[in-house]
Amino acid sequence: MARILTGIQSTGTPHLGNILGAIKPAIDLANDPLNDSFLFIADMHSLTQIKDGERLRNNTYAVAATWMACGLDTSRSVFYRQSDVPEVTELAWYLQCLFPYSRMTLAHSFKDKSERLEDVNAGLFSYPMLMAADILLYNAEKVPVGKDQMQHLEMTRDVASRFNHKFGETLVLPEVLTSELTMYVPGTDGGKMSKSQDNTINIFDDAATLKKVINKQLVTDATPLEDPKDPDSAVVYKLYKLVASESDAQEMAAALRAGGYGWGHAKKALVEALVDGFASERTRYNELISNREEIDVALAQGAERARAVASEVLSRVRGKIGY
Ligand code: ADP
Ligand code: TRP
Repeated sequence: MARILTGIQSTGTPHLGNILGAIKPAIDLANDPLNDSFLFIADMHSLTQIKDGERLRNNTYAVAATWMACGLDTSRSVFYRQSDVPEVTELAWYLQCLFPYSRMTLAHSFKDKSERLEDVNAGLFSYPMLMAADILLYNAEKVPVGKDQMQHLEMTRDVASRFNHKFGETLVLPEVLTSELTMYVPGTDGGKMSKSQDNTINIFDDAATLKKVINKQLVTDATPLEDPKDPDSAVVYKLYKLVASESDAQEMAAALRAGGYGWGHAKKALVEALVDGFASERTRYNELISNREEIDVALAQGAERARAVASEVLSRVRGKIGY
């Protein structure tokens, strides 16, 4: 049994890239009976960028509904909202007092964000220590994250060792879990699908909206309908391959290579694959988001279970420090 923990920033409705690249693989890990998992919505980290309470709340619901609609079993996993267990900020403070300022200044993600964002606040700077507290507060052993978060995991291990060295063995050093095989989902413009690029596909949209997005935004070249086409260089095919069955994908590839099959046909097939392939997720998402009570109940239950672990670890930490 390994304790897996990961946090999800709440910055809006997750897109197809987030779902295939991060959410579905994490749900598979969480639903694996060999793991004991903690999954939380990092809404305190989101405050570094979003200062509007309603937006913060709505984003949390959109993210929670996505995880639940995509099959997360919230009775098995501890699924909670970071701000429901504010003990994490106390641990973050202790960690900040142990971690050298000079090392904090080496964080790549802060450098990157401080060049891009207008609101460069101190929370953005201390972000990695809140993340370390998220992990250490729950004795996490394995933390699945994208490559961009690896340095934060190194900082977490570093500050945990410093704590253990100074006050005696207390905190569990987590291991990072990154998959080399992480799926790459292209956006409608052919670049990486990303919420900052206006090239996303929202699988929860209705059929008419999906049709409009794919027809208007998805790039294709000017090869005439009759001509043979190379499927592997076409965004529409790359996306279709990710969402359709293997045999349907092979059929489309063959039709494109043969000629007489146009981009319009391929787009129509992609829309159908998105509409049908995510039909149950879409129904469930809409159900959850239109009556948030079920989400509230799941998150409240998660908060209670998370808190039981957090308060035990925190009281050990306080004792070791000498309070
Ligand atoms: P965005 O690029 O939209 O801002 P994030 O950086 O918040 O997305 O990523 C959240 C998670 O989703 C990360 O684990 C990331 O690896 C995954 N992810 C984001 N975009 C894609 C994509 N186009 N293909 C595969 N995985 C993705
Ligand atoms: N910083 C992570 C991200 O942007 C989200 C996160 C916050 C997280 N706390 C965490 C991930 C703890 C793993 C563990 O994706």
